[in-house]
Formats: sequence, structure tokens, C-alpha cells
Amino acid sequence: MPVKSADSAASVDVDALTSAQARAELKRLAAEIAAHDRRYYQDDAPAVSDAEYDGLRRRNAAVEARFPDLVRKDSPSRRIGAMPAGRFAKVRHAVPMLSLANAFGDEDVNDFVARIRRFLKLEADAELAIVAEPKIDGLSLSLRYIDGELVSGATRGDGAEGEDVTANVRTVKDIPQRLSGAHVPAVCEVRGEVYMSHADFLALNARQEKAGKPTFANPRNSAAGSLRQIDATITASRPLRFFAYGWGEISALPRDTQSGMVKWLHGAGFAINPLTRLCAGLDDVLAFYREVEEKRAKLGYDIDGVVYKVDRLDWQERLGFVSRSPRWAIAHKFAAERATTVINAIEIQVGRTGALTPVAKLAPVTVGGVVVQNATLHNEDEIARLGVRIGDTVVVQRAGDVIPQIVSVVEDKPRGKHAYHFPRTCPCYLRTPVVREQTAAGEEGAISRCSGEFACPFQKTEHLNHFVSRRAFDIDGLGEKQIAFFFEQGWLTEPADIFTLKARNAEIRLEQHEGYGETSVRNLFSAIEQRRDIELERFIYALGIRHVGETTARMLARGYGSWRSFHDACLKLTQGDDETRAEMDALDQIGDTVIDALAAYFGEAHNRRIVERLTGEVRIRDAEAPPADTAVAGKTVVFTGSLEKFTRDEAKAQADRLGAKIAGSVSKKTDYVVAGANAGSKLAKARELGVTVLTEDEWLALAGGR
Ligand code: IVH
Repeated sequence: MPVKSADSAASVDVDALTSAQARAELKRLAAEIAAHDRRYYQDDAPAVSDAEYDGLRRRNAAVEARFPDLVRKDSPSRRIGAMPAGRFAKVRHAVPMLSLANAFGDEDVNDFVARIRRFLKLEADAELAIVAEPKIDGLSLSLRYIDGELVSGATRGDGAEGEDVTANVRTVKDIPQRLSGAHVPAVCEVRGEVYMSHADFLALNARQEKAGKPTFANPRNSAAGSLRQIDATITASRPLRFFAYGWGEISALPRDTQSGMVKWLHGAGFAINPLTRLCAGLDDVLAFYREVEEKRAKLGYDIDGVVYKVDRLDWQERLGFVSRSPRWAIAHKFAAERATTVINAIEIQVGRTGALTPVAKLAPVTVGGVVVQNATLHNEDEIARLGVRIGDTVVVQRAGDVIPQIVSVVEDKPRGKHAYHFPRTCPCYLRTPVVREQTAAGEEGAISRCSGEFACPFQKTEHLNHFVSRRAFDIDGLGEKQIAFFFEQGWLTEPADIFTLKARNAEIRLEQHEGYGETSVRNLFSAIEQRRDIELERFIYALGIRHVGETTARMLARGYGSWRSFHDACLKLTQGDDETRAEMDALDQIGDTVIDALAAYFGEAHNRRIVERLTGEVRIRDAEAPPADTAVAGKTVVFTGSLEKFTRDEAKAQADRLGAKIAGSVSKKTDYVVAGANAGSKLAKARELGVTVLTEDEWLALAGGR
């Protein structure tokens, strides 16, 4: 820190500063804090304690509060500061940023349109206007405007929580600091895609190379890398662009159609994609797709498909969401990109459940702008089907984020000499036998599994990888590389060990290992501490029980509310308790496969011990209660028969919004059975058990209309 001379502004109380002194002081503080940030983030070598650093930021904030007119463009208050863990502060999205379901061909688009028509109960000749636009291959951003002023910018992250990149987005020219036009909503989150043009990407890589700096693999990575710079002045020097296509939280909708909203966004000061078109239905959108596909190479920026969105916003609202995607939109992807290369080796990877996956090691080849060196061969049968040998020339394909795949062997190139023999033992040091999975029909399935289970080191590390993954515990600074290292060192063998690491660090001395310093160790432990408190659905998902993915975990969490009651139910399942089985079966989207998987998991003493140790280390938050102030909140409802007023999906979506639990079968716990025409066995069962049966109208009246 610079020496403070008695007469410098640095030693003057904030209250006593003159305007000139304040100006000088803000300049000094900006430079000093920026220098500390650089040391902290880039050099991993802070020069001051956290308390001293916080003191500087507090002083800066106090001076700014007294002299708001003097706030500098490069003020530290506009940039994010030292975060205890990770590089950027996390921000929770007011409205989650979801993803789109994919269509890979005309047939899928046809299904999409038909599904919407069915859901909305549209007459065959009723118009269904759809907005079609390119799907930009960049990264999505949410920009929050309050009273028309840009106040924050956040990346998508996991959809619920992103990174605060406010200082960075302020430097992007296509992003207005202030919304223009009349009737700007008081709260308005604008969403869209940050991207980099081909020309700008190539020029940037050339500059990087000249300066001896790393180059980017493709424009998308280059846009992401440029946006997520701690030093926003670097972002400012990168040619980022932005297309607006949607919104999140908004206090009032200025238009009532998607196309109207896009025009409104343009009027508010955003670039919108010039190809965006309002289409009249299926034929129109497919024609649009082909036109854009033809223009694709000449656009000057990467797109990976087109997006279709129902135009009417009231229909979007009715259609709602399934899992993480809207029912009212879909991404129609372009065909995968392909290239040919040679297979140098085939390696076996062992997953969390012990499944052996053969991976082809390729001579590096560029497919659609990305260098590919590995491609999955799925399983033993796929190798046989392709007839692939080591040394063969093969066609490799990459589609979107999907792992590259081998499509075929090029027969007229020199072939490999020896047929590949799938291993009969696990590649781990235990060499446990590999068994082919049985299908439900008792036939041999395609998957080969290591029979080592809990002893297999691969399965253990994969379990840990899943546990810390983004949608599970999401621990910053604990990724696959670290897990592999910690596992090798014997510091980590099961999830609970993560939470005892800090206490054991007196022995481990992590800071003395390569790649670690005092700061990164402190950051890691603080990230772990933050996760001692975890939502029930994440916790259930993190256990990595077979067939229990995110959606299932959410359903279980909602159904049981607390870890205690879920855990009790699982233990009862293992004892063959039929009532518990029926109760679980009654939950929406839960059936025998999941129930059997839970019974098998908790039936294993080893798993119970792992869970017990883990629950001793963490606090599992009860599931968020669904709305409690509606007439049907907390009630269990079964829909049966053919409904006239709305489709089954819509009825369920509405009930869910109102806090009701939707069940698939009728039991003693069912509160209402809503029966349409031709209701069969469920209605009979309801009568038998004395459950209240409602007509659609009665249900609507109870639920308070639509
Ligand atoms: S609309 C509810 N429109 O694709 C989701 N997304 O798979 C609404 N994307 O995360 C998204 N171009 O990053 C939409 N014209 C476009 C898009 C677009 C690119 C990205 C976006 C989103 C991902 C969804």
C-alpha cells in the first residue's frame, strides 16, 4: 500500500473531504483496488488482508455516496470485487433461464406443432402463428433494467443461478445502458445471446497469437472467454455483440405477442436478428429452416439451428413448461458436422454405475470448428456393428453439445489389422470381471458393467464427480481434476470426506501442493462450507441413485417435503412395505423403476453408511412449500378420462401451479379425482375408496377458474 502523507486525501475523513479531494481520492481508490484485484485474481497473491481490502471498498462506497456525481466509469463499485469463492458473484435469476428442447428433423417439428394444437385444443383450421429465428451459438445473458437503467447483467449459469457480469456487459456496444422509447416497464429483464462474428474472432485470434497469448477454439468460446473477464477493460477491448430475443422478469408486458415483443426490444435500443420471421404454421417454419440453412455459411456468425416460438403470449402462458424447457418453443437443429480421421486407440472408461464405455482416441481433426480427439463408441455391440478396428479411418460427427460420435468406417482406406476385443475385466487395478447387463426380459443388454461396485476406484471417483457436479452440490474449485488428485492422495473416498477436508488440512497441508496457494485453499474450503446447507432436491439428486435424475429428485423432494420423511420412506421400501410403495407410486412421474432403484440403493448397507455419514455433515433444507393459499393447495388430485375443457397436460400444469399434488393413481390419500368422459378403473377405484369425484367444471370452480 502506498505511504499516506499527512496532507493527502487518503487520511481525511469522508465527511471532511472537499470535492477536489474526493475526486482525487476516488481515483486513488480505483487504482489501488484494481491492483489488489489483479494480485488476488490473476496472481493468486493478495498483498493485503481481506479486512484491509474491504476497508478500501467501504471507503470508496462512502465517498461515492457523498459525491454521487464523481463516481468514476472504472469505479470498483461497478466492478465485482473479491469473492470468497469462485471468480464472479453468483446471482439468482428472478425468473429461471431455461433451455430449449431439440428437434432433429421435420418429423420432430411436426410433432411439436401437433402437440401444441392438442394442448390448446385448437380446431384443425385455427391459425397458429409461430415466430422463427436463428439459434445463435453464443452464450445467453440476462440484463436487468430498473426504471429503464441497466442495473445488472448475469450469465445463465445452471439456469437458476448465474454469474454477475454487470461490469462486463456495460462494455458491450450492442447493450444499451438505458432503454429508449415510451412505456418502459419499471422492472424489465432482457434476455439474448452474446456472440462474436467470424471476422472479429479470426482477428482476435491473430492478435492473441502475435502477443504470445492463448487462442480460442471457436467464436463461442472466444465470446464466453471475453465476457467472463475479471478485468472488464479486457472485455471492453473484445468485439462482443448481442442479439435480444426474450425477457425474464417484467413488471408489465408492452406487447401481447412474441413478434410484437421482439419489435419492442428493437425500439428499446437492442439489436434483434434481422432474419426473424412471423410464420403461419408448419410449412412456413420448415421453409424458413431451409432458407436459413442455405444462408448459414454466409451469415458471418455461428448459428446451430433455428428456434420456433408460439407467437401469442397468452398461449405461451397456457402451454407453460415441462422440466427445464418451455412447451411453446423448440430448437430445430442443423445436421451434425462431419469429418474423417484415424482411430489410434480404443480406451475404456468406467462410469459411476460401473458401465464400461469404449472411447476412440482419434488423430486430432477439426469438426465444425472444434478440435476433436475423442469419440464415444457407446458399447461392445456398437463396435461390432460398425466393424471398427484400431487403425481404421472413420467418419466423426459432432452435433451441438453432444459428445462426438463415430458414424462409419471408411472402407476404401487402409484398414486396421486386428479386430478389437472388448475387455472381460475392469481396467482398474482390481481387474474385476465385467458382466453384460440383463434386460427386463432376461436377455443380454448392451451395457457391460464392472462387478466391483463399491470397491472399484473408477466407480468411486465417478460417484464423487457426480456429487460435486453443477446440478448436484456444485462446489466451486472441486472438479474432476481435483477429485482425481484428492482420491489418488487418499484424502477423499466418499462424499462425507469433502466436508471433513478442512479439519484434516492440518495434516494434508493442501496449500503446499502444486497448483494451490493460501487463497485457493481458503476459497475451496469456503465453497465447501457454503454447501453444507443444501436443498432437498439437490441432495437427493447428488446421491447418484440410478434412475433418479433431476426431475425425479424434484418430484420426490416435493412429495416428501423433508429428508427425514423421504429417508424413512426409503427404509420402509427396503422392508417391502407395500403402503409406502403405493404412496410413492402415487407421486407424479414416479413408478416401479424408480421405486426399485431406491429400494436397491437403501437396501445396501454400504450406501446407508455413506448416506448416514453425509447427513451428519450437511443440513438439508426442506423442499420449498408449493403455494399454500389456494383452495387446492396440498391436495392430491388425479385426472382421469377424456377432458373437454383442457388437455391432461394443461390440467396437470395448472394444478401444479396452484400447489396441488398430481398423482397418477388413486389411493386412500387422494383428495379429488377429476373425471372426464369415459373414465374407467380410476373412477371405479375412487368410488370404492370414497374419494371425492369432481367434474371438470367443479374442479375449475374449486381451482378458481383458469
Ligand atoms: S429462446 C426458455 N431464442 O439457446 C428458453 N434461445 O437451448 C428461451 N439461444 O439458453 C430461449 N438463440 O442461449 C432462444 N433465438 C434464440 C436463441 C436462443 C440462441 C440459446 C440460448 C438458450 C439456448 C436454449
